[in-house]
Amino acid sequence: MDIVIAKTKSECDNIAAGIIRQQIADRPKSVLGLATGDTPSGLYARLIELYEKGLVDFKDVETFNLDEYRGLSKDHPQSYSYYMHKNLFSKINVRDENIHLPNGQALDAKQECMDYENKIKDAGGIDLQLLGIGRNGHIGFNEPNNSFASMTCLTDLTEDTIEANSIYFDSCAEVPRTAFSMGIKTIMQARKIILLAYGKGKAQAIADSLTGPITPLVPGSVLQLHPFITVLLDEDAASLL
Ligand code: F6R
Repeated sequence: MDIVIAKTKSECDNIAAGIIRQQIADRPKSVLGLATGDTPSGLYARLIELYEKGLVDFKDVETFNLDEYRGLSKDHPQSYSYYMHKNLFSKINVRDENIHLPNGQALDAKQECMDYENKIKDAGGIDLQLLGIGRNGHIGFNEPNNSFASMTCLTDLTEDTIEANSIYFDSCAEVPRTAFSMGIKTIMQARKIILLAYGKGKAQAIADSLTGPITPLVPGSVLQLHPFITVLLDEDAASLL
């Protein structure tokens, strides 16, 4: 595990953008696993800058997002599909047919999860997975106590996650209670992982995940078992290490 502690979030965003740029230069048909939320927004802005300068080409890249709220349409302003189009996809040359997120409105949840796993398999697996982490240590929407053997599934969000994510909604009551998420096993099958964490609010989850026991109680702790992971932290997120 490579752990980089930088003074600022923007230094980490630059390093992460450099790793992704190199990944695509080495393998133009890279399969990227992507995350949403506050954490990766600066990194996506850097990637757009690199694209505009002609330093990275997403023409043959395929993307799979970690998760999507159940019940929200693609066009709902809080859906992860909307977030990704607004913050990245609409500003780079990734092809529409190469973009994948779980369909939050799928009627048959089980089938949707199986189909998503199969699409990842058919793409040849994920080359580079980007992760943020929840204050409770969740990765994707794999909440504490989810099995390390889980594949893409419909999962219940914890009260802590609902509250953390309520800042994006008008009220807590509007936050969906369930979401589709890649499982821990799906995430761990990625060939490489970048974990980003910023701010004091993530310090405990980072300390527990990187230095604590490996346990489903702290989903991020499974990352200690991944052979190729780079962790990029600002000083606040690293403050309890
Ligand atoms: C998002 C995701 C989540 C977030 C985590 C941190 O696709 O899978 O695990 O990475 O909840 O969210 P932020 O970055 O908003 O603090």
